[in-house]
Amino acid sequence: MLTLGVNIDHVATIRQARRTVEPDPVAAAVLAELAGADGITVHLREDRRHIQDRDVHILRQTVRTHLNLEMAPTEEMVKIALDIKPDYVTLVPEKREEVTTEGGIDIVSNFARFSEVVRKLQAADIPVSWFIDAEKAQIEAAAKTNAKFIELHTGQYAEAKDEASRQQELAILTKGTEQAIDNGLRVNAGHGLTYWNVYPVACIPGMEELNIGHTIISRAVLVGMERAVREMKLAMKGEF
Ligand code: PXP
Repeated sequence: MLTLGVNIDHVATIRQARRTVEPDPVAAAVLAELAGADGITVHLREDRRHIQDRDVHILRQTVRTHLNLEMAPTEEMVKIALDIKPDYVTLVPEKREEVTTEGGIDIVSNFARFSEVVRKLQAADIPVSWFIDAEKAQIEAAAKTNAKFIELHTGQYAEAKDEASRQQELAILTKGTEQAIDNGLRVNAGHGLTYWNVYPVACIPGMEELNIGHTIISRAVLVGMERAVREMKLAMKGEF
């Protein structure tokens, strides 16, 4: 069954705009779970622009579904993950100047170093997912690191300007999912998914979890977190 991981980073973005204590992403996670979220995702960035260490520590104790920690494959982050023990880690590329994660990570060019990161995390029973573009070489490299999952980057699909290019990007994601499964990987996807574009991705055979943040938090600001999550669950079933 396809599951929804709700990314609550932008609740923390609002809080950090004033460097105050509200709104609390921990409260947002509780409401998201009550509304049917299957998992909670947070990205602890090197510059701590939204989620803080404190959030991840408390979420580890309060999340009742599963906690997916997105992070860069750095020594600092590996140390934090080994301490917190999220249910799984998604390794992402990170540039300080970017507004959001801009593309998949390049495993091929960093294979030895990245394999060691996977080894360390999985030795501590933390399954690893690689956030990658749906490219054969990256998928095969992900499998060779022994990671359990990949998360396919859906950014190009989300940004497609017309129906023909959207279909083309969807076909790339579908083929990537197939290749990943053939390589023994489990497949998630995310980035840029919205209430209006999520359904075709939700229909990709073998897709396990969609990690969705911006569109849900944007809606939650207007209609409340629970309704926003419930409506996304409907959108994933093509019923929105
Ligand atoms: N997956 C990954 C790896 C991400 O970095 C992000 C953005 O933080 C998302 C999913 C969620 O993307 P969006 O906020 O566009 O739904």
